[in-house]
Amino acid sequence: MKIGVFDSGVGGLTVLKELLRYPNEYYYFGDNINVPYGTKTKYELQILSSKIIDFLLSKNVDMIIIACGTISANVYEYLKNKYDIPIYDIISPTLEYLKNKTYYTFATSMTCKSKIFNNSIECPLLVPLIENNQKATKELKEYLNSIPNNSNLVLGCTHYPILTEEILTLRPDLNLINMGKILSDKLNLESHELKIRLYFSKVDHNLISNIEKIIDKDYQLEEVCLNYQK
Ligand code: DGL
Repeated sequence: MKIGVFDSGVGGLTVLKELLRYPNEYYYFGDNINVPYGTKTKYELQILSSKIIDFLLSKNVDMIIIACGTISANVYEYLKNKYDIPIYDIISPTLEYLKNKTYYTFATSMTCKSKIFNNSIECPLLVPLIENNQKATKELKEYLNSIPNNSNLVLGCTHYPILTEEILTLRPDLNLINMGKILSDKLNLESHELKIRLYFSKVDHNLISNIEKIIDKDYQLEEVCLNYQK
């Protein structure tokens, strides 16, 4: 099966990593020229995500996984109505898993504004630091201040699982919830031959070391700049 997966940058690779438990032909698009998505308008998110889906469709994918919390929270309905192909968002399985649980959420500004999660805290500084392969300890300390001991903390943006070690070093009491893991468990895809093709709108050293941190399988990497018209 050919599976299209996308995000604003490297964040969705944390979802892809979980999906790789089910070998298939994966086509991943990371729009790291336009990152961050978390501060874009709904209209911009519609345009950007449509362009990416059009690109993935040109690769003949059979289904699309939105590996981006911001797109899932704000334009999933729009995309589902626009395209005939099966499209899965990253948030719904996590919300189902959280039913009747108390939890806190770290997410982007647009995801927090959508009010899709309970107790959500905007963490606008994290995505740029992650994309640039920098430590986020100071910023995390501040955001974590508002989370009570022993809480469930949803990593409501797919970039944040990259900070798992840093978060748990600061707060070993927290139970971190990884949306990519929950989605992959739920999809429980059939396994076939594994092929990984990664497309990013900008390829540089930071990107390559981020990919190597997350994906430990062979992959093909290509720079593809999609033409956006606002
Ligand atoms: N990884 C994305 C998310 O899950 C996008 C973050 C961003 O680009 O601001 O929300």
